[in-house]
Amino acid sequence: MIETTALSPALGVQVHGVEDLLDDVVAAQCLEALKWRGVLLIRGLNLSDEQQVAFSRKLGTVLAPGGKEVFVVSLNPEKSRSAEYLKGTLFWHIDDTTNDIPAKATMLTCKHAAMVGGGTEFASTYAAYESLSDNERKRYEGLRVVHSFEAAQRLVHPDPPADMLAGWRKLPTHETSLVWDRKDGRRSLVIGATADHIVGMRPEESRELLDELLAYTTQERFSYTHEWQVGDVVIWDNTGMLHRALPYDPSSEREMHRTTMAGSEAWA
Ligand code: OGA
Ligand code: MN
Repeated sequence: MIETTALSPALGVQVHGVEDLLDDVVAAQCLEALKWRGVLLIRGLNLSDEQQVAFSRKLGTVLAPGGKEVFVVSLNPEKSRSAEYLKGTLFWHIDDTTNDIPAKATMLTCKHAAMVGGGTEFASTYAAYESLSDNERKRYEGLRVVHSFEAAQRLVHPDPPADMLAGWRKLPTHETSLVWDRKDGRRSLVIGATADHIVGMRPEESRELLDELLAYTTQERFSYTHEWQVGDVVIWDNTGMLHRALPYDPSSEREMHRTTMAGSEAWA
């Protein structure tokens, strides 16, 4: 039997007492905890890549973008070919908003932690939505958001050179509903760095609403900040958790290994 403790009032759970990570009952309990608490932490696991993939497979279908199941998250170009675009992780975002179907969950294992900074913050868009007034809910009903890689990268490079901009624009944009009414009846918000504009709204009004909703959702009462220890495993529900890395020196030791579990429900 696993034991759990809340990480913050609105989200997150730490799991203790896992003896066998590959036990079916443990996997089922982890998935249930993830569903209701959004973020799951297990300390001191020190998984190898093979062990991380094996555990990930117990939780879902492991994606392999570019043929690799394990992706290195680091801002150091010597450690990651994606270091430049990973600067976008410093802004609140949900992964995969420009795909049809978002990943169900993402797992990071901490190989090296930064000496200063480099925590990861999470905010629950389920909890934020639930706390909205009826009037606010009515106001947001039916609104649609266009998500783009460009919107997210503009936060890193506000004044991009033409070739950089052209590169971003090659990637598809994707429209989602602002409020995601899921098959299971739960509702969450689809916002964050990739949210470019609301369809049919004046640009300034659209920006203001998206910024206001992001500020509202990322308040302390809907969030949790994880301070990494080497060996930690953190898994989050990528469909409903905004997240961001807190600033750290790109040349620091910080190195996370990421696996991603496929989702089954398309953005609405
Ligand atoms: C990610 C991500 C945050 C971090 O891997 O998708 O956003 O703290 N990482 O490294
Ligand atoms: Mn991310």
